[in-house]
Amino acid sequence: MGKPIRRHILMIPGPTEVLPEVLASISLPVYPHYGREWAEIYEETTRLAAEVFNTSGEVIIFPGPGSAALEMGIANLIAPGEKIIVISNGFFGERVEEIAHHLGCRVIPLRAEYGKIVEPKQLEETLEMHKDVKGLAVVHNETSTGVRNPIMAYGRIAKDYNLFYIVDAISSYGAIELRVDDWGIDYCVGYAGKALSSVPGIAPVAINHEVFRFIEERDWKPSSWFLDLSVWKKYMDKWKTIGHPYPSTVPTHSIIGLREALKTALNEDLEKRYERHEKMAKAFRKAVKTMGLEVVAPEEYASPTVTAVKSPEGLSSKIVREMLEKFNVMISGGLGELEGKSFRIGHMGLTATPLYLVYTISALTRTLNNLGIKVDECKPIEAFYKSIESR
Ligand SMILES: Cc1ncc(COP(=O)(O)O)c(C=O)c1O
Repeated sequence: MGKPIRRHILMIPGPTEVLPEVLASISLPVYPHYGREWAEIYEETTRLAAEVFNTSGEVIIFPGPGSAALEMGIANLIAPGEKIIVISNGFFGERVEEIAHHLGCRVIPLRAEYGKIVEPKQLEETLEMHKDVKGLAVVHNETSTGVRNPIMAYGRIAKDYNLFYIVDAISSYGAIELRVDDWGIDYCVGYAGKALSSVPGIAPVAINHEVFRFIEERDWKPSSWFLDLSVWKKYMDKWKTIGHPYPSTVPTHSIIGLREALKTALNEDLEKRYERHEKMAKAFRKAVKTMGLEVVAPEEYASPTVTAVKSPEGLSSKIVREMLEKFNVMISGGLGELEGKSFRIGHMGLTATPLYLVYTISALTRTLNNLGIKVDECKPIEAFYKSIESR
């Protein structure tokens, strides 16, 4: 007999704690990935996912990691040798740059320091220097720094310059305002296992109709078969009636879990959900600041779903370890340039609630004291409550 799985509270920025209704929905026998009954489930899931994206375009449920879904977007819209601007201010923005490089695109990086944003006017200036740019890609919520990027403002510029606009909404989908149609987003990647509190491994993707018209007319193909949207379109048209509108087998259990999580999000009401995440995140930052710690993101751009905290010198991995071993709270270390210098806490979906955050704050203050950083153990919790009780 192996060791039993240890139960931790997942306060990492994904995967997150899973909703009980999702867990119940996936404890049923396996569905096949086609057939009339399955077709109804899949269609309902894409319809609900479209509501969360605020789009009337197509939605597919990509059976794989968020990064591969992003790769699909760039691979279909920007031909090798064509130019794409990638806005980045953290580890995941840099990853988008890397993906575009791998695909042979000519990447024009538009970077800001970790914790800062690229101002929309910098995007305009860059576009004035490069008239032949085809696309723009950006991360909505930079999970490595806890910065929310101004994707609505970038979207207006992308439209003015007639660019394909690709957005990574992996750690914002279902928790932070996202209006795919109104903000002119052509291709947008969400995720099941973060702010929706479903199981990880699948990514709902919103794709506007313009993209499908473009791939029909383009005179080149992506070099990947699975990531080629024209392959997907073929099955979306041809096998829709048999409930198989995708090229290969999909993880039906994960999709059923996602359907449940989407229903929960929509029942809560999206506006209220955005407000809840804003409120909990703000209160959490207040508590962290009361501990004498500094948050990486300035308040103006601070993320409603993840907080990156500057760590006291040399203690980042010790804090992460102590939180896990003594308190069963799993948080994450820093990424990219902030590796070893910060730690990150996710507060999304189920965990954007006092139930999870108060215990996390308490565990963090105790951890800091255990590591020799003197912190009052009541004041941060008081600051948290005071913030959520204020109007
Ligand atoms: C903003 C963002 N983009 C991309 C990814 C990568 O997603 P995946 O690990 O599913 O490829 C993550 C994962 O945390 C993320 O937060």
